[in-house]
Parts: sequence; C-alpha cells; structure tokens
Amino acid sequence: ERGLRVADKGFLNTAVITSEITYIDGEKGVLRYRGYPIEQLALDSSFLETAYLLIYGNLPTKEQYHVFEGEVMHHSIAHQDTEGLFRAFRYDAHPMSILTSAFAYLGSMYSEARCFHFSHALLKMIELNIGHRPTRLCKGSRYTRSKATTLAAMAYRIRQGRKFVTPPAGLSYTASFLYQLDHLGEESYTPSPILAKALDVLFLLHADHELNASCTTVLQTSSSLVDPYSAVAAGCASLYGPLHGGANEAVIRMLISIGSPDNVPAFVEAVKRREKVLSGFGHRVYKTTDPRSFIIRKTADEVFKVTGKDELLETAMRLHDIAMNDEYFIKRKLAPNVDFWSGLIYRAMGFPLDFFPVLFAVPRVVGWLAHWRQMMLQPGGVKIWRPRQIYVGPTRRDYIPMEDRV
Ligand code: SDX
Repeated sequence: ERGLRVADKGFLNTAVITSEITYIDGEKGVLRYRGYPIEQLALDSSFLETAYLLIYGNLPTKEQYHVFEGEVMHHSIAHQDTEGLFRAFRYDAHPMSILTSAFAYLGSMYSEARCFHFSHALLKMIELNIGHRPTRLCKGSRYTRSKATTLAAMAYRIRQGRKFVTPPAGLSYTASFLYQLDHLGEESYTPSPILAKALDVLFLLHADHELNASCTTVLQTSSSLVDPYSAVAAGCASLYGPLHGGANEAVIRMLISIGSPDNVPAFVEAVKRREKVLSGFGHRVYKTTDPRSFIIRKTADEVFKVTGKDELLETAMRLHDIAMNDEYFIKRKLAPNVDFWSGLIYRAMGFPLDFFPVLFAVPRVVGWLAHWRQMMLQPGGVKIWRPRQIYVGPTRRDYIPMEDRV
C-alpha cells in the first residue's frame, strides 16, 4: 500500500492524537497536568480538585469545586443496581477482573440509553463517573453511574463475602473509600487521616499519564461510540497487565521472591541474563527516574510512621541502589517508575496484594474520562480508530482439495 509505513514496534515514537491534558518530558522527567507541575499538585492540591482540573482543563473556583465535590461524594447505590452488580461478580476472581466486569455490566445497563447522543449534558453526567447517583437519561430508562471507588469497594467486600457499607457524610474522597473498604475488618473503622492523605496523593499521581496502553485502549474502544462504561472496562483489562498497572503487584511478588537484601546481587545478575524482569523499573517514555516515584518514596516514609516499616523495604532499597549504579541499567536508561515504591505503601496499609492494580485503576478512570471527553468534543466529531497494516503474507494462490494436498 503506497504511503503506509509501519510504526516502530509497540507504537514507539507514534503520536495518534493531539491533546491538551497531560505533558510528559521523558528525558527531563517532567510531568504536568494541564500545565501544572505534578510536584505542586501533589503538595498543594487534592485528588478531587485535580480530577476537576484534568476533566475540565482549569483549577475550579470555590463554587465550582463545591458543586463538583457534592456531585462526586453523593454515592448511595440504588438497591437494584447492587443486586445486579453482585450477580455480575464471581467471588473467587481477581479484583481487577471483578472491577472490569462491573464496568462491563454497567455498560450493558447503560446500553438502553444508546439512543442518546453524546450531548454536553450526558458528557457532564458521565464525566462525573467518579461520582454516583441514579440518573434519568432517556424517558423511562434509568441507569446509574457508579463511582469507581464504590465499585472497587464492592469488588473487595464481595470477595470477602461481606455486605456493602455506605460511608457517613463528611469524609474526604479517600477516607470515604477506605471506610467502604474497611480493609482491616474492624467494627467501627475510622480511616486514619494520614493514610487517607497518603492515598489521596497516590490517587492524584495515578490520575493520568497521557496515552499509556490503557488510555489508548479506552480511546480505541470509544472511537466506535460504544458506551464509556464498556470503554473503561476495556481500559481496566489493559491496565491489569504486569507490564502496566499490574506492575505494582508484580514488584511485591518480585521482592518476596528475592527474600532478603543479601539475595539482591544474585537477582540483579539473573535480570542481566534476561532470566528475570526488574518490575517497577523502566518506562517507554521516561529515560530517567519517573518524577512520581520521588513523591511516592517520600509518601512511603509518612505512611511507615503510622503503619511501621514494611520488611520488604530494605530489599527494595538495596535493589534500587544496586540497579541505579549498574552499567546494564544505566546504559538502557532504566530507572524506577510509578510502580516501584507504591506497592510497599499499599502493603503497609494492609491491602491484599491482588487489590493493588485496582488502586491504580480507580484514580486512572479520571484520566481515561478526561481523554474520552476530549475525544467526544473534538471538532468534526469522532473518527473510528482503524490503523492499517503492511501485508507480508503469501501472494495470491488457488485452493487445493484436501485429497490432493501432500
Ligand atoms: C506503567 O506508559 C505509561 O505511561 C505507563 C504508566 C502510566 O502511568 O500509565 O507510567 C504506568 O505502566 C509503568 C511501567 C510499569 N511496568 C513495569 O515496571 C514492568 C517492568 N518494565 C518493563 O517491562 C519495561 O520497562 C516497560 C514495559 C515498562 C517499557 O518497555 P519498553 O519501552 O518496550 O522498553 P524495552 O522493552 O524496549 O526495553 C529496552 C531495553 C531492553 O533491553 P535490550 O533488548 O535493549 O538489551 O531495556 C530492557 C529491555 O530488555 N528492559 C529491562 C526492563 N525494562 C526494559 N530489563 C530489565 N528489567 C526491566 N524492567
């Protein structure tokens, strides 16, 4: 085919859209959301305020934030939805597959409203997908937009066979999430403000990262104008992989398999022989340390003051120090990414290991929806994403009956 050129393997150096949402300079380790440096947002903003920034493009005024927060925090799940969602879940599945099926289930409920064109009103309602309230879309059809944290908390408690709890009003976004999880199984669980703040910083740092594999999946899926729930379900499926959002779980499994700081040198040699992968290191875009990992490392120290240090921390620090000074990793520009330290925080906070990718997916729904909105509002409307290929298979040949084949 004339004019076609195969993109480098894995879309290396291939831009498929222009975007105003997130800026990354991989050489300098720069990350900005709508122009604001991630370091300033992590210090002075909150996940919810940053969610508004990512979706709408500017920091909210007090009034805008009050309305947005009210929308998002209003999360009473309507009973028939709970029943339906419970039926959609399998008790023994990985929480990420429960979360994926929950969004896919909502997509199936939402399909009644497929008649509805993506108007501004709908966009606004869906954008608040991180919020939840029963919403009338078309006459007679009723569906609910369920908050990602609500679904994640359901996925968590269903697996434990525990009923779902609605948090009291007045808690922050992440404290409300921790309350719904009540992951320590205490009776009158009151989330620690320090842990809720740490989770808020982690959510903020994970909210968006331009066109990573899962965001591309959401946009590729959305380009056929399927409902955004099904697109988010596809994004969850992509994020779950150990090369992407599943790496926070893979890092801990790696540290547990290493066993102790004394075993790190042997592990590093196995990585250099390509027998092992150093999870939590390397990045398609960052060719220096991921700026998020510095903030997460500092946040870990705050969390450990409350929870006590995780015994895997020493192994992680030894691995970090050896890898950062080893020619094999330096030459390949491999450095810690967002996943290297985050799992240690989730583990210290008491989350089960296979819930870690869910803690990545929940805030990332905001970034996916910001990109989805940008796609739905692009001038000229949505164009289906249909890349081409360069065909290198057999030239034309005629069919041979089975009995004549040798
Ligand atoms: C996330 O894209 C995003 O923005 C993602 C993310 C987001 O916020 O959405 O930042 C979140 O997914 C972070 C990445 C989490 N994944 C991991 O930690 C898994 C471990 N990392 C690797 O699998 C790898 O680094 C990737 C997948 C992250 C990036 O892979 P690339 O860009 O395809 O790099 P590559 O495979 O071409 O590697 C280049 C070289 C190769 O060696 P050579 O063949 O040139 O000799 O570096 C080596 C690779 O073998 N290499 C590694 C390595 N990562 C790359 N060797 C050992 N351990 C590693 N982790």
